[in-house]
Amino acid sequence: MTARDGRGATASATVARDAAERIGDRLALGGAPVAAIVLGSGLGGLAERIEDARRVPFREVPGFPSATVHGHAGQLIAGRLAGRPVVALAGRFHMYEGHSARVAGYSVRVLHALGARTLFVSNAAGGINRTFQAGDLMVIADHINLMWRNQLVGALEPGDVRFPDMSDPYDAALRAKLHAAGRKIGVALRDGVYAGLLGPSYETPAEVRMLERLGADAVGMSTVPETIVARASGVRVAGVSCITNLACGLSMHPLSHEEVIETTTRVARDFERLVTEWVAAL
Ligand code: HPA
Repeated sequence: MTARDGRGATASATVARDAAERIGDRLALGGAPVAAIVLGSGLGGLAERIEDARRVPFREVPGFPSATVHGHAGQLIAGRLAGRPVVALAGRFHMYEGHSARVAGYSVRVLHALGARTLFVSNAAGGINRTFQAGDLMVIADHINLMWRNQLVGALEPGDVRFPDMSDPYDAALRAKLHAAGRKIGVALRDGVYAGLLGPSYETPAEVRMLERLGADAVGMSTVPETIVARASGVRVAGVSCITNLACGLSMHPLSHEEVIETTTRVARDFERLVTEWVAAL
């Protein structure tokens, strides 16, 4: 059985294998990528650093939802970063857009089928930890899934673990390499727990106080689906949240998406240098 999101897109490991076969030649990978990279809101500039880039629009990737559902154009990109082979997704499928849990994690199945066994996830997030400031970069140490959905519900996908261990969702060795990369290039990094909420409304001040008590350092609306699918299929994960704003109630002004994009633009260069240095050390 394959899961359907109601628009005819399927989101199974089998469809992902097919998709990888169909787009593999265009991506000209010529070997397994050392990492797959998911670029979050406002962080897509890293894609420009990928050399020798081959690009496939999301609408041409079998199983990806149609462009009418996914407003802005996403791309799957293959090439070299720091001289090493990588694949990257510029854009992702959020559950707040109406995608099913399975569809929100499906892109990782395609990356896995393309040979990636290490995944780097990134996102824009609100800072909950009171020592954080807008513009901080936070290595994701762990997450709290408050989306009330799980990508693995339903038929067991071939190659998946039915009950995946989640004791090391963000790989300790890969995280250490991120911190080492940050030290090397002089970019200060935070470390913390990411709470993934469904969205698309931002949190209320009371919800942010609750998240703080639950142990969250940052809050956002993505990433958790990709990490869950990655762990079920044996892919190691590392990730960084760009703290684009203080979470609701912690700052004096209302939140806006414009503020999120302004902050990511401001720190994009440090983010890009960090990921490039990290890939070089893999
Ligand atoms: N909350 C949820 N998602 C976000 C935020 C936030 O404050 N900032 C950027 N993405």
